[in-house]
Amino acid sequence: MSQVLIAPSILSADFASLGDQVREAEAGGADWIHVDVMDGHFVPRISFGEPIVRALRPVTELPLDVHLMIEPVDPHLRAFAAAGADSITIHVEATPDPARTLQAIRDLGVRPGLTLRPGTPAWALWPYLDLAEVVLVMTVEPGRGGQAFMPDMLPRIEQVAERLNALDGQRWLQVDGGLSPATIGPAVDAGAQVVVAGSAVFGDSGGVATAIDRLRGAALG
Ligand code: DX5
Ligand code: ZN
Repeated sequence: MSQVLIAPSILSADFASLGDQVREAEAGGADWIHVDVMDGHFVPRISFGEPIVRALRPVTELPLDVHLMIEPVDPHLRAFAAAGADSITIHVEATPDPARTLQAIRDLGVRPGLTLRPGTPAWALWPYLDLAEVVLVMTVEPGRGGQAFMPDMLPRIEQVAERLNALDGQRWLQVDGGLSPATIGPAVDAGAQVVVAGSAVFGDSGGVATAIDRLRGAALG
């Protein structure tokens, strides 16, 4: 079976030592660093903005995978690209013209990603799959870490996997929300290739590296 990428979400990291937490994740075998941006409008809470991306850029060589839970999103793309984002994932609900937004991300030299809330029908993605290199299936309601994985999103992961397999090029099927050693297996079996994990990585009392190993082990079943 193909390799599963682990993308720790810094939302659950200790912000007082964020650089060290990211170094620990890199040393522990993380593949991408997932950066959750929340605006208090598209989702109820505020997390942080592009200064965090800029601060982390020199800290790690891993791709910085930026998940924008913000609306409007278009006016902010340039700032996140300039700060050092490697991928930018936008919500299909947060832009009047997803095709234009995904193209704008590509034009900035950044890998475009597309996602949706659990309550948004999957078909909302279909017209734009070709323009996205990352397709993220949210497995919790976006807005905070530490929520329970929604098993009813498993058929959606399978549906997206099937559609992505029919397209050309390198595309990543990502899952985000409630991923843990208990839930990563079913998600990967359904087709997930990149697994975001916040609390399961930074909230594990055994440490970041052990947590990443446990996730990887559980993913392989
Ligand atoms: C939720 C965020 C997630 C979150 C995941 O809105 O998009 O990336 O950090 O946290 P866990 O892994 O704790 O569910
Ligand atoms: Zn996220």
